[in-house]
Amino acid sequence: MIDLHCHILPGIDDGARTIEDALEMAGIAAAEGITTIVGTPHVFKGDFSPEEFALIEEKRAGLSAALAEKNIKISLFGGAEVHISHNLIEEIRNNRKNLVLNGSSYMFVEFPSDHIFPGVKNLFFDLMSEGITPIIAHPERNSVFSRNPGLLFDLVQMGALAQANSGSFTGLYGRAEEEAALRFLEWNLVHFIASDGHSPRAIPPRLGEAVKRAEALIGGKKAGALVRENPKAVLEDREIPEYSYPTDPRKSKKSFQIKIPGFLRRRK
Ligand SMILES: [Fe+2]
Repeated sequence: MIDLHCHILPGIDDGARTIEDALEMAGIAAAEGITTIVGTPHVFKGDFSPEEFALIEEKRAGLSAALAEKNIKISLFGGAEVHISHNLIEEIRNNRKNLVLNGSSYMFVEFPSDHIFPGVKNLFFDLMSEGITPIIAHPERNSVFSRNPGLLFDLVQMGALAQANSGSFTGLYGRAEEEAALRFLEWNLVHFIASDGHSPRAIPPRLGEAVKRAEALIGGKKAGALVRENPKAVLEDREIPEYSYPTDPRKSKKSFQIKIPGFLRRRK
């Protein structure tokens, strides 16, 4: 399996704190059957400096060397989780190779957990005009997408993709995130499952249990593709092979069954 989204690089963000943490995370991942991890540190508005990107690359090279030394069979690739901001297009023009996943045309975008600014569709249009395919990181953890899954559908229909966290399927973040992840999966609004791992214990890089839960809902072939064929295609900069046309949640009765607080339930 490939873990496309993981904060395994030590001492960069709120992920692994030390190289020992990172190696422990890699050991957990390897035991799960993960062979490849993409190190995707948070990149916020103020982080776009040559020094920051050089440090990330240095950490990646250091961790790769440590993995080889400890004989942990994990391939480490470069990437980022890019916090969405209005000046993103300019930053992409200046720092594209540091922001995309393994030099591809795919890029993770992260929204604040409770807010999506107006104009997001225009921004996504501009991103795609730059040749970037945005992958929305963990939309099930964003209360705006949970309350208004039609917005996620609109962005996916425009050409964006979405990645759900493995922990969301196993209840790690709570019931609302779990329900949202399962509904998004049913509506073909999830194209990748990744760990978003931050540590060996609290948020470890595990995928197996989440894939089992996804299998029960969408079948083994499709669920497997979310952690194998699709992320592999990203790393090779190809179109993802497992893609099903999304269902518009606004036209699905199930959109009113998400067990989350908010207007979806009240509109029953
Ligand atoms: Fe993340």
